[in-house]
Amino acid sequence: MSLLKLSKQSWSSQTVFIMAAVGSAVGLGNIWKFPYIAGDNGGGAFVLVYLACIAIIGLPILLSEIALGRAGQANPVQAMANLAHQSKSTRLWAGLGFNGVLAGLLILSFYTVIAGLALAYFFNSLQGLFVGIESEQAQSLFDDTVSNPWTLLFWHSLMVLLTILIVSRGVRGGLEKAINMMMPGLFLILLVLLGYATTTGAFGQSWAFMFSADFSKLSWQAVMVAMGHAFFTLSIGLGTMMAYGAYVGKDMSIAKASIIIVIMDTLIAVLAGLVVFSIVFANDLAPGAGPGLLFQTLPIAFGQMGAGWLFGTLFFLLVVMAALTSAISLIEPAISWFEQNWGFSRAKAAWLLGSLVWFVGLGTVLSFNYWEALYIIGERNFFSLLDFITSSIMLPLGGLFIGVFVAWAMRPDIREAQIELKGRLLALFNFSLRYVTPLAVILVFASNVASEWRTIALVMMVSVGIYGLYIYKMLKRAKCLSN
Ligand code: PHE
Repeated sequence: MSLLKLSKQSWSSQTVFIMAAVGSAVGLGNIWKFPYIAGDNGGGAFVLVYLACIAIIGLPILLSEIALGRAGQANPVQAMANLAHQSKSTRLWAGLGFNGVLAGLLILSFYTVIAGLALAYFFNSLQGLFVGIESEQAQSLFDDTVSNPWTLLFWHSLMVLLTILIVSRGVRGGLEKAINMMMPGLFLILLVLLGYATTTGAFGQSWAFMFSADFSKLSWQAVMVAMGHAFFTLSIGLGTMMAYGAYVGKDMSIAKASIIIVIMDTLIAVLAGLVVFSIVFANDLAPGAGPGLLFQTLPIAFGQMGAGWLFGTLFFLLVVMAALTSAISLIEPAISWFEQNWGFSRAKAAWLLGSLVWFVGLGTVLSFNYWEALYIIGERNFFSLLDFITSSIMLPLGGLFIGVFVAWAMRPDIREAQIELKGRLLALFNFSLRYVTPLAVILVFASNVASEWRTIALVMMVSVGIYGLYIYKMLKRAKCLSN
C-alpha cells in the first residue's frame, strides 16, 4: 500500500539542510535563554546537567526526529500517521505531531516578543544609546523599554510580520542564503565579544561560575529546566526537525548532520554564557537577573569597548536573524499541516497562524509590565507559565514519545534504513533510545510531580481535552490514511 507523500519540497543539498537545521537550533535559546537560566539556577552544576542532557537525550532524539520526518514524508501529524500505519501501530501516534504543532505556536508567541526586544536593541545601538553606558543606565534602558507595553507590542508585531512574510514565500526562497551569511557572522561577533570578555578581569570568575559544579546547589526543578532547555535549544520534541527532515533527500547523512547541529548549538550557547557572565561579574551585577539578563549586560560591554557601536549594532542584528531562522522553523510544523491536510495555501496558513501567534503573544507583552506580578500558578506569570509548560513539559514529553516510537513501535527495517548507523554505534543508539532516554525523562518528571502538581494537573486536563477533540477529528478524516 502506498504512503501518502505530501512534502514535495526538498533541500538543495546536505549543506543547506545542515545550515537550516543549525539555523533552527541556534537562536534566542542559546544567546538569551541559556545564560539567564544558567544564572538563575546557580551555574556550574546546572551547566553540566544540561551538557549531559544534550549528549545522552538530545542527540539520539534529534537523529530520531529527522529520521521520522524523512521516513514519514509529510508534516509531523501526517508523518506520524503514515509511519504508525506502516508499522501497524495505533493511529493515535498522530497526536504526537499535533503536540508539536501546538507547542511550536505557543513557543513562537513568546519568542517573537523577545526577538522584538532584540530588534528594539538593534535600533538602540544604531542610535548610539549604548555609547559610554554604565550598568545603572543599562538597567534603566531595559526597564524603560519593557515597562511600556506599546513599545513591546510594536516590536513583537514587527517580528510576527517578518516571520509571516518569510514563511509565506516558502522555506527555501531567500532563506538559505540568509542563513549562509548569518551563521559565520554570528560566530565571529561572539568571538570578538569573547575577546572583550577576557579583558574585563572577570573571565576566570565567569569560567568558574559556568564550569565548577557544586551539586549541593542543584534542585530537581533545575534539572527539569536543564532537560527542558536541551530540547528547546536543539529544536526537538515538537516536530520542527521532523518537518525539516521531510525535505531531506535519501542520499544525505542525517547522522552526520545531527552531530554537527549539536556541536554548533552547544558551542554557541557556552560562548554566549562565558561572555555574559564576564560582564555580569565585572560590573557587580546579579547572574540571576532573569529574562532581562542579556539586555542588561551586553550594552555595558558595547558601551565600553572600542568600536562598540558597530559591534553592538551588528550583534543585535545577528540575534534578530538567528531568532528569525528559528521562528520560521517553529511555525513550519503548523504551516505544513494546514497546507497538506487542510488545503490552505501557504500564504493563507501563514497569515492565519501568524495572527493567532500575535494574539497569544499579547500575554507575554503584558507579562513584562502590567501582568508581571499576576501569578497564575505558583510564582509564574503568563510568560513564565507558557515557557514552563512548553519547554519543561510539552517538549520533553514530545521527545519521550518520539524516542518510544522509534525504539519500540517503528518497523525496524524502516528505522535502520533511516538511521544509517551500524555495529556498535547502532547498538548504543538503540540502547540509549530504548532505556536511557525514557528513564531519564520519566525520572525527572516523577520527581517534579510533587512540587509542580498543580501545573501538571492543568496541563494534563488541557491536553486530554485537546487530544480528545483531535482524535475525534482524525477519526472523521480517516481517509488521510487510505490513499
Ligand atoms: N532552538 C531554538 C532556540 O534555541 C528555539 C526553537 C525551539 C526553535 C523549538 C524551533 C523549535 O532559540
